[in-house]
Amino acid sequence: MSIQANESPESSATGDLAGKHIVLGLSGGIACYKAAELCRALIKAGATVQVVMTEAAAQFITPVTMQALSGRPVYTSQWDQRETNNMAHINLSREADAILIAPCSADFMAKLLHGRADDLLSLMCLARPIDSVPLLLAPAMNREMYAHPATQRNLFQLQADGATVLGVGSGFQACGETGDGRMLEPDQLLDDVIAFFAPKPLAGQRVLITAGPTYEAIDPVRGITNLSSGKMGFAVARAAREAGAEVTLVAGPVSLPTPRGVTRVDVKSAQQMFDAVSARADAATVFIATAAVADWRPAAASVQKIKKDGSGEAPQLAFVENADILAAVAGSTRAQSGALFCVGFAAESHDLLAHAQAKRLKKGVPLLVGNIGPATFGQDDNALLLVDAAGSQELPRAAKLHLARQLVATVAARLPKTLKNHHEN
Ligand code: CTP
Repeated sequence: MSIQANESPESSATGDLAGKHIVLGLSGGIACYKAAELCRALIKAGATVQVVMTEAAAQFITPVTMQALSGRPVYTSQWDQRETNNMAHINLSREADAILIAPCSADFMAKLLHGRADDLLSLMCLARPIDSVPLLLAPAMNREMYAHPATQRNLFQLQADGATVLGVGSGFQACGETGDGRMLEPDQLLDDVIAFFAPKPLAGQRVLITAGPTYEAIDPVRGITNLSSGKMGFAVARAAREAGAEVTLVAGPVSLPTPRGVTRVDVKSAQQMFDAVSARADAATVFIATAAVADWRPAAASVQKIKKDGSGEAPQLAFVENADILAAVAGSTRAQSGALFCVGFAAESHDLLAHAQAKRLKKGVPLLVGNIGPATFGQDDNALLLVDAAGSQELPRAAKLHLARQLVATVAARLPKTLKNHHEN
């Protein structure tokens, strides 16, 4: 029988994991079915993947499936004669940029903890060069097994021994019970692996971000909003998290998934966004205002739906201006003293450079990011113009996540020394 991978895994080397070689270890558990998709996701992101399975894992999913998806023969035994020196555990671990055990069963964690080495996967983990080949664990087990003091003790000690535990999901389990212990979904694990490899120039920083549109109610069924999708702000939140920051995202009404590891606060109106930001700005060291906040709101929202009165006349709506969140935060004592670095966005339709420069001064921020509103709202890509006191820099059209990562690197490089030292001390 021949095995045909439906794409050449080695050919996709342009993604977030381009150039990375991951050893994907599977221990026994029903979550092995997710490992197939994870393998594919890692490869799509540009990694090369070598699968190693325990005997128990092979009860749940066949090495044939994993070979087809990874495009490489799978290793299951330390006695594998394909290796000319018969030392698969050494050869496999020396080539890896990381070993990812997904799923990592309770039993396999116990083995790792004690440094046991009676099968290829545990042997390889023990034999890995501990300083250069990181070990990432994606636990997967029944909720009682997960909550058991022995498992919790093992998790704690494995982290103390240098392993990175990627956490677990919560919800319905294959056993029919509901609780903590499910393996994270393949896309979540992929994001965690990408974040793991990212440089950490924002480590120790607390980043507060606004994103999306606001919604200003006219009555209980109607309101005023705008076309902001929130994608840029969510990408900035993800990039800041990848860069090591603690991130809080205050989001207007959008239906986007929360980036991994980010704390999200949902709001609707500009006033609610203002209140949510005000309550958290004192704890932040960086504030990035990407939200398209409504400039005005109806002076008085009607409690009941406004009905046509038959006269053919439209209702007369009066508006009041919303408070400027960015200007308020940028004018605070902490921002003025350099304890809080503020970044504004400007969505313009024309004369981007001139408007962005004027807006930077008006808002009182060291860095303002200009973009053309109609060309970005709802899109997955964008082009940015960074404006500061010294001049401007274009970031050419690219995926929003790519631009967000560039922006985060720029912000990190511009943080005043006092803030950088803040976490080094
Ligand atoms: N902003 C804010 N609170 C507001 C209005 C805007 O925090 N009430 C922030 C936005 O998140 C963005 C920046 O200010 O970072 C620029 O917003 P924008 O609406 O483009 O600027 P305005 O000051 O409203 O100017 P104009 O609408 O006249 O272009």
